[in-house]
Amino acid sequence: MQVILKELTKSFEVILLKNLIENGKKEVFEKIHKNLINQSSKEEFGDYQCNICLVLSKIYKRNPREIAITFVQILKENKKISNLCEDLEIAGPGFINIKLKNNILIEEIKSNLQCPRAGVPLSNKISKSNSKKKVIVDFSSPNIAKEMHVGHLRSTIIGDTISKIFELRGHSVLRLNHIGDWGTQFGMLITQLKDLYSRDLKEIENIKISDLVEFYKASKKRFDNEKEFQKRSREEVVKLQKGDTQSIEAWKLLCNQSRKEFDEIYKTLNITIKERGESFYNPYLKSIIQDLKCKKILIEDQGAKCVFLDGMTNKEGNPLPLIIQKKDGGFNYATTDLAALRYRFNKEPNGDNANRIIYVTDHGQANHFIGVFQVAKKANWIPEDCEVNHVPFGLVQGIDGKKLKTREGDTIRLKDLLSESVKRAKEDLLKRLENESRFESDEFILNTSRVIGIGAVKYADLSQNRITNYQFSFEKMLSLNGNTAPYLLYTLVRISGINRKNNMTEEDINSKSIEYSHDLEWKLIRKLLKFDEVIISIEKDLMPNRLCNYLFELCQTFNRFYDQVPILKEQKEKKISRLSLCALTEKTLKLSLELLGIESLERM
Ligand code: ARG
Repeated sequence: MQVILKELTKSFEVILLKNLIENGKKEVFEKIHKNLINQSSKEEFGDYQCNICLVLSKIYKRNPREIAITFVQILKENKKISNLCEDLEIAGPGFINIKLKNNILIEEIKSNLQCPRAGVPLSNKISKSNSKKKVIVDFSSPNIAKEMHVGHLRSTIIGDTISKIFELRGHSVLRLNHIGDWGTQFGMLITQLKDLYSRDLKEIENIKISDLVEFYKASKKRFDNEKEFQKRSREEVVKLQKGDTQSIEAWKLLCNQSRKEFDEIYKTLNITIKERGESFYNPYLKSIIQDLKCKKILIEDQGAKCVFLDGMTNKEGNPLPLIIQKKDGGFNYATTDLAALRYRFNKEPNGDNANRIIYVTDHGQANHFIGVFQVAKKANWIPEDCEVNHVPFGLVQGIDGKKLKTREGDTIRLKDLLSESVKRAKEDLLKRLENESRFESDEFILNTSRVIGIGAVKYADLSQNRITNYQFSFEKMLSLNGNTAPYLLYTLVRISGINRKNNMTEEDINSKSIEYSHDLEWKLIRKLLKFDEVIISIEKDLMPNRLCNYLFELCQTFNRFYDQVPILKEQKEKKISRLSLCALTEKTLKLSLELLGIESLERM
């Protein structure tokens, strides 16, 4: 209903402006016209609410109710407004409650049924300044030879959904995997590789490292304890950075090995993302220093080159620097991020020409991004009208509130976590089948438990306010009741059941006249028509949990309707009207699940 809301707002604005001009207060318009019409605070008040008369009362120094009476009279004379609105009611001290006409809502339902995006308008439909943009979402981004942990899982799931929402709105999205594939740790990894396999690494392609994480740990231990190993590792870094063929080969081997493991997880989660590791920005690091020097932002402090950050201090209250080049001349995580940011905003061909960059990482990196963004702003690397956002998220904890671990106290491998969820989903399914004396093929059981198991993990993550920590519980996320993926899938399955039993075609639904009488029908209609608002708010604030909350409420509203309002037993017109609500609920639900990266089911 965002398009209608926009039209309505425009008409209100014109009348407000006219009113201000007449009263010689034109200049306040800019200040007060924002958020002229809001969502109703309570459903029974109507669809929208306008509180401007309270604001005007302060400006005109008159009683707000009196102002409202005149204001409403003028509003009612406006053709557009009277076409859209049933009633403009003055409430309390001078609020205006707005209720849309039934036929307007029905037209919206019909048009959303035809719309491939279930009523979500493309971005350019709502505001010109927000027309098609190039958005980069930097997410997942694990590190070579290190464990891909639950933090990366969160980043992957949240980043994927955010990307999909921007795509739905018609933006062009570049999903980037900023893999940690460069840095001093490669010196020790390559040295270890050479020591263990062959000094000259003749058959480098044939080397298989069964467990890269163990390999990393072993080499780190040697690096910390053996002087000679440390020295050779440092030399190896220099060789690598100079582009020594053998070192590069060894580096590639390590990257490939990790990539295989990452790809397995991406396949299970059905994630597409373009790999562009830190090493990609290597050629641009030096010029970051030069550029900052030219702009006179760079300061040398105890041998390191840094930029001092405004408003950030350390424990002692001294200004905090962002180090861009270390004392030994080496670059770091921040240097790479600055080079990446500049490249991404640069025009093609030496850049991505992005309008907005979104970084999805754990909360622990918040200060890093504050620093990087501040330096980029000082250096003028963020073009006008362009935006950067850090999307931080909290920790995943066990039910004991501590860091998520296996029963033996080890870190949980993502692969194991996902397969455990599928395994438990299968156990639940088999129990259900037994209780219902139902027989299903092996293929059905395999696929259904996979969809539920993976979907449950994703949904449990996305349904949390990402900023807070959340407790990981297989029992909760796999439950058929509550705000869970199985509950949503179950609602979808119900609708598929209705579809199997009715012989209406989509054409019937679209061509017959539609009528509604039941209170629960109108509740469902109003809920369905809120979908686009939710999507647009996520595009702005990057909080995917809003979609989950909305879906949970939608399913509850639908299920109440389903339980209390007869559908298939009704006569033609009524039946078609109700079936069309089922169809739009199904469409909205399927599309939303797609946005959340969850597969749909027709039976479960
Ligand atoms: N590799 C980092 C990590 O594992 C995440 C990188 C996020 N992206 C970025 N541009 N810094 O924590």
